[in-house]
Amino acid sequence: MKFLVTGGRGFIGSHFVEKCLNEGHKVVDIDSMTYAANINLPFDSDKNYQHLKQDICKVKHLPPCDILVNFAAESHVDNSIIEPDVFAQTNIIGTQNLLNLVRGKTYNKPLFVHISTDEVYGDIYNGSFTEDSKITPSNPYSASKASAEMVLLAYARTYNITYQICRSSNNYGARQYPEKLIPKIIECLDDNKPVPIHGDGSYIRDWTYVKDNIDGIYKTCFTDKVNQVWNISSNNCLSNLEVLEKVSKWVGKKPKINFIENRHGQDMRYSISSDKIRKELGWNPQYQTLYNFL
Ligand SMILES: NC(=O)c1ccc[n+]([C@@H]2O[C@H](COP(=O)([O-])OP(=O)(O)OC[C@H]3O[C@@H](n4cnc5c(N)ncnc54)[C@H](O)[C@@H]3O)[C@@H](O)[C@H]2O)c1
Repeated sequence: MKFLVTGGRGFIGSHFVEKCLNEGHKVVDIDSMTYAANINLPFDSDKNYQHLKQDICKVKHLPPCDILVNFAAESHVDNSIIEPDVFAQTNIIGTQNLLNLVRGKTYNKPLFVHISTDEVYGDIYNGSFTEDSKITPSNPYSASKASAEMVLLAYARTYNITYQICRSSNNYGARQYPEKLIPKIIECLDDNKPVPIHGDGSYIRDWTYVKDNIDGIYKTCFTDKVNQVWNISSNNCLSNLEVLEKVSKWVGKKPKINFIENRHGQDMRYSISSDKIRKELGWNPQYQTLYNFL
């Protein structure tokens, strides 16, 4: 298969590219190399991998492909609160530009796999959101991701584009930019610095190992059940303080904490049900048990 991946130099996208190459597919990767991109990756010299340094908002031509997987995004909530326009630009307009290029293809339109997030649901105090739950984003990042989904749904119906939407929970694993909680904790522990924790640290996130997430995304690329939303989560809900405790134990250091001003619009608890992808596509978080420091 020919995959066109966007954002394949970022955290999750790079693991997905690696999987596609390992499975024998060809990958063209459109990534503009923002601050979050990885400069060097293990697959750089793979003959089946090609990187195009282009912005998804401006790219004018899509190379031929069977499946387009759109990871490219501004992905950090704190940044979206300071500078929301950049998020609207990449996450909404960038997705729309890709869809315009796909709709322009008169035959063999690729499957459009859109990488969204559990944050589109907003927070939930008890229980878990399912794919049918209402979307109520709480911050400019999650609003831009929810908006991109709406644009995709409208284009799919109007221009007959086949799609999948993957909403995964918080990911952890190698190559994540250190602005995110777990690499930030590790960086601070290594440097013997206090770890910044928003508010009182009681906010709950649902943690999934990155290779489990990309296995779920990969499954959605090869099923007849298309035009669907898929939640992907290991159902591993932990407060930020619990994450700090577990990661510190794993690193083998006692953390110092710097409680910082709470994030505006802070979501209290995320939790999604992944029953659908488990039952219908046979997905299971395989790696979580192997790399289970959380
Ligand atoms: N990290 C998580 O826990 C998480 C959870 C759920 C969903 N997601 C979603 O998964 C996707 C990937 O997240 P991530 O954590 O790997 O992000 P990341 O910030 O690590 O990587 C994003 C990549 O996209 C590229 N990019 C950004 N803007 C671009 C543009 N305009 N044109 C081309 N390339 C551009 C960057 O250079 C970078 O390589 C995002 O869509 C994000 O919303 C992430």
